[in-house]
Amino acid sequence: MAGTREDGGATRLLLVDDDPGLREVLRADLTDRGYEVLARARAAEGLATLEAGAPIDVVITDLNLPGESGLDLCARSARARPEVPVLVITGHGSLEAAVGAIRAGAYDFITKPFDLDVLDVAIARAVRQRRRPRRAAADDPLAALGGDSPAIAALRALVERVAASDASVLVRGETGTGKELVARALHGLSARRDGPFVAINCAAMPEALLESELFGHVKGAFSGAVEARPGLFQRASGGTLLLDEVGDMSLPLQAKLLRVLQERRARPVGGADERPFDVRVVAATHRDLRDAAAAGAFRADLLFRLDVIGIDVPPLRARGRDVLVLAERALAEQAARAGKRVTGLSPAAAERLLAYAWPGNVRELHNCIERAVALCEGERLEPGDLPAVVRAATPAPAADTPAADTPAADPLIALAPGVDAAGLPTLEAMERRYVHHVLDLAGGNKALAARVLGLDRKSLYRKLERWQREGGAA
Ligand SMILES: Nc1ncnc2c1ncn2[C@@H]1O[C@H](COP(=O)(O)OP(=O)(O)OP(=O)(O)O)[C@@H](O)[C@H]1O
Ligand SMILES: [Mg+2]
Repeated sequence: MAGTREDGGATRLLLVDDDPGLREVLRADLTDRGYEVLARARAAEGLATLEAGAPIDVVITDLNLPGESGLDLCARSARARPEVPVLVITGHGSLEAAVGAIRAGAYDFITKPFDLDVLDVAIARAVRQRRRPRRAAADDPLAALGGDSPAIAALRALVERVAASDASVLVRGETGTGKELVARALHGLSARRDGPFVAINCAAMPEALLESELFGHVKGAFSGAVEARPGLFQRASGGTLLLDEVGDMSLPLQAKLLRVLQERRARPVGGADERPFDVRVVAATHRDLRDAAAAGAFRADLLFRLDVIGIDVPPLRARGRDVLVLAERALAEQAARAGKRVTGLSPAAAERLLAYAWPGNVRELHNCIERAVALCEGERLEPGDLPAVVRAATPAPAADTPAADTPAADPLIALAPGVDAAGLPTLEAMERRYVHHVLDLAGGNKALAARVLGLDRKSLYRKLERWQREGGAA
């Protein structure tokens, strides 16, 4: 039954809501469903219960509370009892606040009005998440995201942190950067990892077909629908659904998807009843959906739903020497597959790989290496084994470097603030740019950025404040 734990005992809920009527109704309903419910009117009371170590499996809290808010409760409960997931209940108007709650450490949120089945599913999910022991390092899904650059390290840290929540994630990045790998890693690191991972490419099919793929259809829903078929929201139950190229979805279907995500119920095409589903949604896009929303091509409200947490996957050209790390890895794999004794890259080949801009990112690099290994006749890949465009790449000269025939000014004489005579940025300017880059990758999370940067939080705040005072772009 719904409210039963694995060991047979009742699931213990801590319910925090200041409205006595709602609190009582919910308490009675949940008790009827077999839960053991402790009800509290204030965040402070709820926290005191948690801090006293009361046996609680899941916290359910209203967001708008007098005194300390539900948001404070999320943050403080995450500190005091990190093992206890918090579900936030919010009014329709305060989705923004719900997103804030997720960022503060809540496990999931439910919008009012909701029905009890939906709450049931959310509680079951939260309980399951709590029971899951940590994975062994050997089958680390993050290992697939290769590279040593700070950009990829920050990405891995972010993926790991975000995997713990059940909120929707929007993965943004150019083609071939590894968006699907990120989605798979999110799934593999989450409590849902034993459930299915289902991906659908929203750009690849016409609207009507996509709708029936997503939500299923009943028998006779349209000509050719000789049998009922469950949709992906049903088939991904207990797991993760990747909506790839979500930016290509038509506006009418966007409206349907929005409703389904709001209600957490989906109705099959031609069907009468809606069924709740238990799916974490990850969306991916190579488009700038904010631009698309501004241009009216993508619904802003759907974007907001999907982009509870945004993950930017950096392009390969922003990952420095990762190009070589990934190339060596691909080379070893391809050589083994082809049964060839190719052991590495020649320095000249490495130089070209570093100089090329990789518009197709990691996918293009993999194709390039596969082809090069097939062509290679020696023990090391040479520039001649690389495609012409890559072979032609030469290291870009530093921007604004004076041409060799103009007499160079003595850089120590013409020092202007921030820039020296050769147009090179100062260490401080570089630091500032890099710090902002890491902050972006960390989705604005300063604590995470500080960890990645190897700074304590206070030093990061001080730097940011100083730069803000000094003004100007990063
Ligand atoms: N950091 C990485 N380390 C190793 N392999 C990677 C990495 N990133 C991407 N790849 C590989 O590159 C290829 C493309 O990755 P993926 O399909 O995840 O990209 P994508 O961003 O979803 O691309 P698209 O926009 O074209 O759908 C895959 O073969 C993937 O395994
Ligand atoms: Mg993809």
